[in-house]
Amino acid sequence: MNQDELRENANRLAARGKGLLAADESTGTIGKRLATIGVENTEDNRQAYRGMMFTAEGLGDFISGAILFEETLYQDHPDGESLVSKLGKLGVIPGIKVDKGLRPLPGANPVETWCTGLEGLVERAAKYYERGARFAKWRAVLQITDDGCPTALAVTENAWGLARYARACQESGLVPIVEPEILMDGAHGIDKTAEVQEHVLTEVYKACAENGVFLEGSLLKPSMTVAGADNPDETSADEVAKITVRTMERCVPAAVPGIMFLSGGLTEEDASVYLNTINSVPRKAPWSLTFSYGRALQQSCLQAWRGKDIEGGQKALLARARANSEAAMGEYVAGSQPSAQESLFEAGYKY
Ligand code: 13P
Repeated sequence: MNQDELRENANRLAARGKGLLAADESTGTIGKRLATIGVENTEDNRQAYRGMMFTAEGLGDFISGAILFEETLYQDHPDGESLVSKLGKLGVIPGIKVDKGLRPLPGANPVETWCTGLEGLVERAAKYYERGARFAKWRAVLQITDDGCPTALAVTENAWGLARYARACQESGLVPIVEPEILMDGAHGIDKTAEVQEHVLTEVYKACAENGVFLEGSLLKPSMTVAGADNPDETSADEVAKITVRTMERCVPAAVPGIMFLSGGLTEEDASVYLNTINSVPRKAPWSLTFSYGRALQQSCLQAWRGKDIEGGQKALLARARANSEAAMGEYVAGSQPSAQESLFEAGYKY
């Protein structure tokens, strides 16, 4: 593996004040998003939507990389230029979702899953590299339930899968984003989430060591340490920030250049405020703490665009990109950028 290139690209992705735009929704998931604005899920409409985002002038000031679904990596803008080339012009590095989705995990709890896509991954990653991708994502999902989830089996399997994926991608020059998402579903408190997340992250980095993953050329994409969505107690942004930083400090090696949080169903504004507060907590560890948001970067953009208003969509995207860029430096003033107010939480958001 080319360690120098991996290290350099990982550092560019985690650069100060920059984060990732997760635009890698599978065809089914983007269909659900488009349905909310009355737009049909056709290849042309997906192309138009992503083409709108990837030509937003100035996006590269806030966004270091965009994660694409395979279709998008090979797709052109409606004007005929490839979307990869459009991103390049903005200074945004293209990345690719390489997992093949979740399946039920036999022997575990019926709600638990494993993540598929390892077979032939070294070769597939090499093709994506050739097309211009420089980083990859693999999303493993764990859930906290009253009846014992996550089970030891689910934690072991998902940690191992993430590490195998990470190593395979590095062989072909892609910086792996290691994503062990812990769903917000449930009524558990933040302490329970912290306990589970510490266990999961520890297993992930143990598996990474066993597989020889080059940590300096990798990134972590965790959930923030938050209470379950149905927990009746209010948790303050300060508490989320303190416990999240504590969890990361206990479990994430200092060799990892960046921790890029997912938004996981937080509202656009909460995702920015929490990230800002996280960056205001004193910490010992050197990694950058930034964002890799899907829903929390795209919701108001999608609503402003509505299938036709390119300028409106781009303006909304840039507003949230700026807000999160500021938050990644601890400089965001709450409410200073427009946002969609609604909850983006979807129960059982796995597939
Ligand atoms: P959300 O920010 O919408 O959780 O999505 C990020 C992502 O890419 C999940 O894999």
